[in-house]
Amino acid sequence: MLQTGPAKRAYVETYGCQMNLSDGELMEGLLAARGYEIVRNPEDADVVLVNTCAIREHAETRVLGRVSQLNGLKRENPGLVIGVTGCMAQRLGTTLLEQAPYVDLVMGPDGYRSLPDALERIASRRASRAGTQLAVLELDATENYQGLEQRRAEGPVAWVPVQRGCDHRCTFCIVPYVRGPEKNRDAADVIAEVEGLVAGGVSEVTLLGQTVNSYRSGDTTFPMLLRRIARMPGIRRVRFTSPHPSDVTPELVEVMAEEPAVCEHLHLPAQSGSDRTLKRMLRRYTVAELLQKVALVREAVPDVAISTDIIVAFPGETDAEFRETLDLMRTVRFDEAYTYKYSMRDGTPAARLPAEEFLGADEAQARLAELIAVSRGIAAEINAGEVGRVEEVLIERPGRKEGQLLAHTRRNKVVSFEGDAGRVGEYTRVELCSTSGATFHGVEVTA
Ligand code: 5AD
Repeated sequence: MLQTGPAKRAYVETYGCQMNLSDGELMEGLLAARGYEIVRNPEDADVVLVNTCAIREHAETRVLGRVSQLNGLKRENPGLVIGVTGCMAQRLGTTLLEQAPYVDLVMGPDGYRSLPDALERIASRRASRAGTQLAVLELDATENYQGLEQRRAEGPVAWVPVQRGCDHRCTFCIVPYVRGPEKNRDAADVIAEVEGLVAGGVSEVTLLGQTVNSYRSGDTTFPMLLRRIARMPGIRRVRFTSPHPSDVTPELVEVMAEEPAVCEHLHLPAQSGSDRTLKRMLRRYTVAELLQKVALVREAVPDVAISTDIIVAFPGETDAEFRETLDLMRTVRFDEAYTYKYSMRDGTPAARLPAEEFLGADEAQARLAELIAVSRGIAAEINAGEVGRVEEVLIERPGRKEGQLLAHTRRNKVVSFEGDAGRVGEYTRVELCSTSGATFHGVEVTA
């Protein structure tokens, strides 16, 4: 249905993971298709959507603060519609509407197809002076947003969701409860989308899913899909995130090794280096099995960069078990580690563990600090060892400093170097000249 009257303006602000950023693009696409103008400042908007994350309490408190701040705009513009979408909206639901009466809409991750209709309903309820708050919170076991267009920022890289939801039940994790069961898109639909992206100038895609490598649609497994996409004309780089270690299979590793377009980078969320903790997290692998996966990938893809996610202070984690996680870091030597303090999420199995098992804030913080020191130290050593290399990079955007460009190597390392902003989208070669520990500064090699 086409909108009549003046175009409405919508602003979407997204927090959290790449899947959520991709969902933000989906919402923008849906609204643009209904005639909304997508604006870059909340001050310019008639509809403000805050697309939230629920993975840790900290993520939620930050966003709640932001939502109440946006309410300030409503005082100047009483017609403003404020919506809260995403995982926190799903988790808090109508409680959020009660606590924040200025919020007009809460909508969970399976509701976006009806977003434009929901906004229309709010508008017509307002016209008839009915209560305007609306909640769209049904989880839909089939919704994979097939056939809908994301609205992507222009540029050479794009995220392509191939799977939504999650069938794992890691005991710390809220995702299965707010995003529902695993739903995979048709391979043909994914491939058609990537073809369209290539036609629009994209040469690097990142396939997205909560456990992306457990993707299966009909007879198409994830390794098969990855190979198909890697072989598509115009695609020069393919990445995927986040895989579950249990589904890092020989078939997947073979595709990584054989397909030149698949980048030499694997994100392998270990979560812990203690078998007892892994078991209590319901991760379904042991440390020995994880190390086997690492060995398998390194043997097949010798130059592969491996990153990870680690949680410290899971309820009941002993000091000795935490030390095992430090040992794992030193054994694997991850190129990068995203490190988290355990955060209790209501409704997850770990939240029901006996109260005395929960660690004190100081102890948890001390473990996190020690883990960060170890993982940063290792990353800095690895990166210092890479100084002097010449690597292919894809220029993604202008850097923060005037005259600088930002690029990623195939191994997912960030490099800044001097160059003209008009060159975004080009591939070039740079010598890695220095490192901050985490990122590089380089110089283009033209010869
Ligand atoms: N507390 C802390 N970290 C968590 N993660 C997921 N749930 C929690 C939680 N309750 C981390 C995991 C996951 C990453 C995206 O967030 O490490 O891989």
